[in-house]
Amino acid sequence: MAHTLSPAMQEAAFAKLGLDACYLPLELHPRDFLAVAKKFRHTPLAGFNLTVPFKEAVLPYLTGLAPEARAVGAVNTVKRVGSGFKGYNTDCFGFIRSLREAGFRIRSKRAVLLGAGGAARACVYGLLREGIREIVILNRHPEKAMKIARHFKAMDRGGTLRALPLRDSYLKEALGSADLLVNTTSVGLKQDDPVLVRPAVWPERKLWVVDLIYNPATTPLLAAARKRKCRTLNGRAMLLYQGAAAFEIWTGRRAPVKAMRAALENSLGAS
Ligand code: ATR
Repeated sequence: MAHTLSPAMQEAAFAKLGLDACYLPLELHPRDFLAVAKKFRHTPLAGFNLTVPFKEAVLPYLTGLAPEARAVGAVNTVKRVGSGFKGYNTDCFGFIRSLREAGFRIRSKRAVLLGAGGAARACVYGLLREGIREIVILNRHPEKAMKIARHFKAMDRGGTLRALPLRDSYLKEALGSADLLVNTTSVGLKQDDPVLVRPAVWPERKLWVVDLIYNPATTPLLAAARKRKCRTLNGRAMLLYQGAAAFEIWTGRRAPVKAMRAALENSLGAS
């Protein structure tokens, strides 16, 4: 939380549009959330963001849920509505917008997703909505990947879903026909993290490789992908666009993306 980039990004947006608002970081223990949320009812609070472990824990306390938040089963943005709170998930919009901006066309493509946490669920929802043909989810604990596959199969949004253990043999097979590889795990954040895609596993074809990690800008996965002449994208644009979507939900105004991007880059440069 001490390293959150959202205050800088949102306050740059408020300043750009001359809005009398502020965005404050607040670190809470999950058991105190409800008591604090009740106090919020007596303030001019317009909304807030949530991160792990609140994205799912908040669900029972909300009075409304946007369709994407219901489908993903996680909320990262909350808007005050009357005396209650409505939950949204802007991670999925941020992910899709960042992919589109980079030039990747999702329709009818095949994706491989590493990880099966909340971020993976947001990506699966976004990709299915945009008409992806197939998603293969690989996770260290495969039962979590299976749970996601079952959940979205039941929603029947089109697109095939498969779940596999995160092992070299399965990954090699899945990457053999993939157009897009997305890392949604935290592997790559730390210097001594394991290698996610070993040299023998990389396919011949030049797929797009996306890492949701935004700091460092170039994870070992992205560096390996670039060596193989693959197109790459880190998590910075997703971070920007999930924030822009949250801003628009709270204020009803179009987000000043340029100002938000500059604030983000400035903070990342300083971090
Ligand atoms: P988020 O909500 O950001 O997705 P999360 O729910 O904690 O975060 O999920 C983290 C993901 O990173 C999980 O898929 C986790 O795998 P497991 O479900 O098997 O634990 C994955 N992950 C974390 N460390 C990993 C590692 N060293 N190797 C492989 N996967 C890892």
